[in-house]
This record gives sequence, structure tokens and C-alpha cells, in this order.
Amino acid sequence: MSERRIPGRAGELLAQLGERAVLHDLYDEVGSAVYHDMAGRDQHEVRELLGLVRRTPGPVLDLAAGSGRLTLPLLAMGREVTALDLSRSMLALLRERLAQAPAPLAERCTVVQGDMSDFSLHRRFPVIVLGTTSVSLLDQAGRARLFASVRAHLEPGGRFLLTTVDADPGYTGPPEIEQTYTTSGGTDYRIFDHWVPGDAVRTVTIFPAHPADGPTAVCTSNVGVLPVGQLRDELAHAGFTVHSQQQLPAVSPRLTDVLLETESCA
Ligand SMILES: C[S@@+](CC[C@H](N)C(=O)[O-])C[C@H]1O[C@@H](n2cnc3c(N)ncnc32)[C@H](O)[C@@H]1O
Repeated sequence: MSERRIPGRAGELLAQLGERAVLHDLYDEVGSAVYHDMAGRDQHEVRELLGLVRRTPGPVLDLAAGSGRLTLPLLAMGREVTALDLSRSMLALLRERLAQAPAPLAERCTVVQGDMSDFSLHRRFPVIVLGTTSVSLLDQAGRARLFASVRAHLEPGGRFLLTTVDADPGYTGPPEIEQTYTTSGGTDYRIFDHWVPGDAVRTVTIFPAHPADGPTAVCTSNVGVLPVGQLRDELAHAGFTVHSQQQLPAVSPRLTDVLLETESCA
């Protein structure tokens, strides 16, 4: 990947690794496997999103579906699901999971490689889901295009369900928070989340906790901080009405995920 400046302690660790460090985007071929290893089966927001999906029968479009963390539970509900993602390697992981799933479930899934800010599927859906705060991977212009694409694919009366990450503007703790994570397979990772209050972007960087000798993959992603008030304004401007807003269980001392249930106005 092109060189990115990694701030804080993560940047120092990267410098210490020197030429051994190989920097990857979190959703490229190497990063996808790390993301999936860490988050692929995480249950965060699944119950709340499925609770809203259940109210509207019919096929579901799962945007930024990744390796299927939400796609698989949606299929398990008996829905037909179209899973769209930009990353071929994330979709390869989804296809692997589908290949291992019972055929009647896997057959209800259509996998599409595409950009959520510019897609054309030539059909409409009663429910479109954009979970895991992935709306914040787009800048404001990208979000405007996303909302236009969603409107063009939503059935009248259908629901667009999305989550965003709201950061506490009054946070006075250190700009970088380190967490460790052990996967079910026993791999330990160190995760650095760097954010200066007021900044529009956080930098998340993931290191193996016990790097072996030789090249060491370090994965990073820039994630926008999109306060729910700003997102609601942008949605209103794009022609959406917000029906409900619910706060999800806290993921960190300074970040709160929020789930919005919206409908496209006529
Ligand atoms: C945080 S992951 C979420 C994946 C999955 N929904 C989950 O819950 O694990 C974000 C996903 O967004 C995808 N992505 C990033 N930019 C995208 C874009 N412009 N269009 C479609 N997908 C995109 C990435 O490839 C990645 O799979």
C-alpha cells in the first residue's frame, strides 16, 4: 500500500520494526484475513440490526458486507441477501464461508463486488443494511453518492438501516488507546486507536502481539468520525426520514455506536 503516516505509539512501533514491517490496508489481501480473524464472528450490533430487519419482510441488500459477519445471520433468518463489498479479498472470505454453509442457505446469497458509493443492481430492496459503522469509511461526497445509490435501490416504504460511530467531543484522555485481542484460534493482536478530539478521522493500526522473525504484517485503516447529528443532517438533505435511533453497547471509553432506522421520502 502507499505509505501512510501512522501517528502515536503505533507509529513508533512501526519505526522500530524498520524494514521488517509490511504495511497493509485492513481490507487488502493480508488485512482481510486479519480483520476476519479478529472480527469475522463478533456479535456487536447483530441482535439490534436483526431486530429491525425482522420488521420488514423480503430480500436484504447488505452493503460493505465484508466476510459476511452480518450476511450470514441475515441468511440464517431465511432472507435472500445480496452482499456487496469493494474488497475482492473480503468477498473471497465470504465465498469460503458460504461454501461451508448448508446449500439452502448459501443459495439465497448473491455476492457482488462493487462500490457502495456508486452501484447499480437494477432492482429494489425492502431493506438495505450498512452496518459496522462502515458509512464512516466514506468522505462526505462519497456519503452523498451512497445515499443517492441507496435511494435508487430502496422499495417505497423500505428501510435503510445504518450504524455510525459517535466520539465524545469532551474526551480528555490520551489520544491513543491500546487494546489487546486474542482470537478464538489463539492469535494475539495489539490494536491502536488514535484520535484527537475534533479530528474527522481516527487511525486504527493492528500489530501481531508476538511478531515472528522476518516480515511482519501491520494493518491500518483510516476511519472517519461521523457524529450522529451530522449523519442525520446529511440523511435529511439526501431525502431520508429517521424513524428511530438507538445507542449500541459501548465499544470503547470514548466511542459510541448508534443505529439509525431510516426511510427514503417520496
Ligand atoms: C468494518 S468492515 C465491515 C464488514 C462487515 N459488514 C462486518 O460486519 O464485518 C468494512 C467493509 O467495508 C468495505 N468497504 C470499504 N469501502 C467500501 C466501498 N466504497 N464500497 C463497498 N465496500 C467498502 C471493506 O472492504 C470492508 O469489508
